[in-house]
Amino acid sequence: MASTVLVIDDDTSLRRVLEFNLQEEGYEVITASSGEEGIRLFTEEQPLLVITDMKMPGMDGFQVLKTIKRQSPDTLVIIITAFGAVETAVEAMKQGAYDYITKPFNRDQLRLTIRKAIQFSGLARENRRLQQELSDRTDFRNIVGISTAMERVFEMVRRVADTEATVLITGESGTGKELVARAIHNQGSRQPGPFIPVNCAAIPRDLLESELFGHVRGAFTGAVSDKPGKFSLADKGTLFLDEVGELPLDLQPKLLRTLQEKVVEPVGGSPTQKLDVRVVAATNIDLDRALADGTFREDLYYRLAVIPIHLPPLRERKQDIPLLARHFAAKHGSPSLTFSDAALATLTGYQWPGNVRELENVIEQILILRNSDHIETDNLPDRVRGIKTHQKNPVINFPDDGYSLEDLEREAVVEALQRNSWNQTSAARFLRIPRHTLIYRMEKYAISPPDRPSSQ
Ligand SMILES: Nc1ncnc2c1ncn2[C@@H]1O[C@H](COP(=O)(O)OP(=O)(O)OP(=O)(O)O)[C@@H](O)[C@H]1O
Ligand SMILES: [Mg+2]
Repeated sequence: MASTVLVIDDDTSLRRVLEFNLQEEGYEVITASSGEEGIRLFTEEQPLLVITDMKMPGMDGFQVLKTIKRQSPDTLVIIITAFGAVETAVEAMKQGAYDYITKPFNRDQLRLTIRKAIQFSGLARENRRLQQELSDRTDFRNIVGISTAMERVFEMVRRVADTEATVLITGESGTGKELVARAIHNQGSRQPGPFIPVNCAAIPRDLLESELFGHVRGAFTGAVSDKPGKFSLADKGTLFLDEVGELPLDLQPKLLRTLQEKVVEPVGGSPTQKLDVRVVAATNIDLDRALADGTFREDLYYRLAVIPIHLPPLRERKQDIPLLARHFAAKHGSPSLTFSDAALATLTGYQWPGNVRELENVIEQILILRNSDHIETDNLPDRVRGIKTHQKNPVINFPDDGYSLEDLEREAVVEALQRNSWNQTSAARFLRIPRHTLIYRMEKYAISPPDRPSSQ
């Protein structure tokens, strides 16, 4: 049951003390006087948390721990050890115990440990729920999203995948346009065929025509043999015209003709091959603007945008951010990574100018630099936390009626500490003062670190 705690201890009076304290904290308590009874109750009641003594006749705490972790890896187990039995505690933690408490109990310590565990298990459950949602969505080849905007995208992909309609995907850089293009291909009946991407912006004009449509031998210097273009390579599959908004104006009529007549005309040759190609195009530039400016032909635009799919920037679908963060942790090999609520809030609050790609990069960076599987705000890059770096001259906005130097100094100390995650050594280095001077200033101005977020 959700808030049930199972206490296993052969000592009746200790069981009573624990039971009393837990009940006072509002938990439902079930107790067992041996390891064997404990396991039976565990199986029946599925408690959220188990507190077990280590030394018991028969099945001891280690065996209890092992059995429970095997049955239910997510259940938190706190062990009770005699004061001074550090090695036992360490060994138990290695085997998966969440925490330990020592006998005789310190009441506050006991309550704190339990409260922390309960909070943690709440987080663990939330994580699992999100993981589940994640796996429910992998039918779209790893496109992740729960926002309404992404729901709409999934729905569109589902509807157009099995058609021949030309799709135009728009959205800022890094919003997942290529991922969606691949999903359209993978979901449709062309899936066994090739998916051929061409980046229209990355290929010089002179080469682009031949790249798309191919050339015949002798068409230009260096054309030593016939070469098929990307259109031909995509036969029976999908051609992905990436950054189509960058297609040079003089090539646009030829693309339009190819799309309409489904015949490819290699450079230096004549229209030959009948094509069976589905075209999906993408652009991150504002095509409306390009249309108005005359840099993109209207007829081609309507030919490409039979079905438009728009991917909104990540800052307009913030609900997706926690899910994406976990997705990328898993994608890069750390599925057990967890985030504190504060860290998630910071990730969600950031503007993500580079959209999903930037988020993926940030998660990769975190994975390399972290020292635990639990990510706190401190582990996030400065720019995500809104901390500006590389500012040469600090700007001081003095009030008109003046400002005390002492206040200014206090602010500088606080700022330096915040920027350095309250690490005194780094903050002192930042302020170019010895650490003892920093500590003196902290005492003088009564500066102390904020309470760390309680969630672990
Ligand atoms: N919804 C999503 N779920 C999972 N991964 C995503 C999602 N959106 C984007 N990504 C990942 O982010 C990265 C960038 O995506 P993609 O290359 O599709 O963006 P794009 O819109 O084509 O960007 P650009 O315009 O810069 O080419 C890729 O690694 C992709 O896998
Ligand atoms: Mg792209």
